[in-house]
Amino acid sequence: MPNDSWPARAAVDPVVTRLALEGLRAAPKTLPPQLFYDDEGCRLFYAITALPEYYLTRTEWALLQEVAPKAGEWLRPGGTLIEYGASHEAKASLLLGAETNGRPVFDAYVAIDVAATALRAMGARLRKSFPALRFTPIEADFEQPIVLPADLPTGPRLGFFPGSTIGNLDPQGARRFLARARTTLGADALFLLGADLRKSPQVLVPAYDDAAGVTAAFNRNLLVRLNREADAEFDPKSFDHRAVWNAQEGRIEMHLVSRRAQTVRLGSTRIAFAAGESIHTENSYKFTREDIAAMASASGWQMRETWTDSEDRFGLFLLGAS
Ligand code: AVJ
Repeated sequence: MPNDSWPARAAVDPVVTRLALEGLRAAPKTLPPQLFYDDEGCRLFYAITALPEYYLTRTEWALLQEVAPKAGEWLRPGGTLIEYGASHEAKASLLLGAETNGRPVFDAYVAIDVAATALRAMGARLRKSFPALRFTPIEADFEQPIVLPADLPTGPRLGFFPGSTIGNLDPQGARRFLARARTTLGADALFLLGADLRKSPQVLVPAYDDAAGVTAAFNRNLLVRLNREADAEFDPKSFDHRAVWNAQEGRIEMHLVSRRAQTVRLGSTRIAFAAGESIHTENSYKFTREDIAAMASASGWQMRETWTDSEDRFGLFLLGAS
């Protein structure tokens, strides 16, 4: 039999399957947000960043354009930039372009992300845009312990966690993440954190439930992925996309809500859904400045500087060792 007529079994991924089963057997049902980012999920996420309702990316971008050239004021040249959740080099490039007396502040760039395809594409583009840069991609979940290459330049290190991806972690997880980054990066490191600020649900909810339905497609793509990579049989159209503001917890939640009672096979497991039952697919915490300062000091960092846009929508926070 020719190879291409075999069923697409090779696409079944044991890690994806385990994460899916863990979440879907729990009560209430959940799926972890890192599963969003298969190739199609990355594509949909980039479409989200260009939506009129999704103010986060363009607001942070405008801030970074002002802030990144100052990196030479914080760090001496010969440093390493370490980005967590780096699926595109656009934001990092603003920092990589920073110079002191004509010398780049950063000689090396370590990009940590779960999306292998995205990391490969970044490498190819960076070879052209920054030919002298030492680029090290690390395919990993940023919540796992990271081992940095042993032969990095000896200069200063800047951790970089843009996009408010920290909002995917619960408060305890966020502190744990920052504490671990502090250990990984070393005593003299700095950390530049991008975080979405608390604001009216009238602004927040549409950012996660856009008129064009791109976020709904991004959410449902999880089920498409599980069909392929966890040998599941979801009918994605039978789940509604829902985005809600949880004022108590200070977070936007995304859910996939079963439109009807149904049983879905996943591998050899059958998962029962009541009509209206939800799979909680993402939290996106929103922060005050005080939240960030408290989070920093609870994890071995200290707030050094803060930048926000004129409407106080988004913040960049420079943390230093405490
Ligand atoms: C990439 C985690 C920052 O929470 O705003 C966008 C992902 N989810 N629309 C976010 C996302 C729905 C995004 N982060």
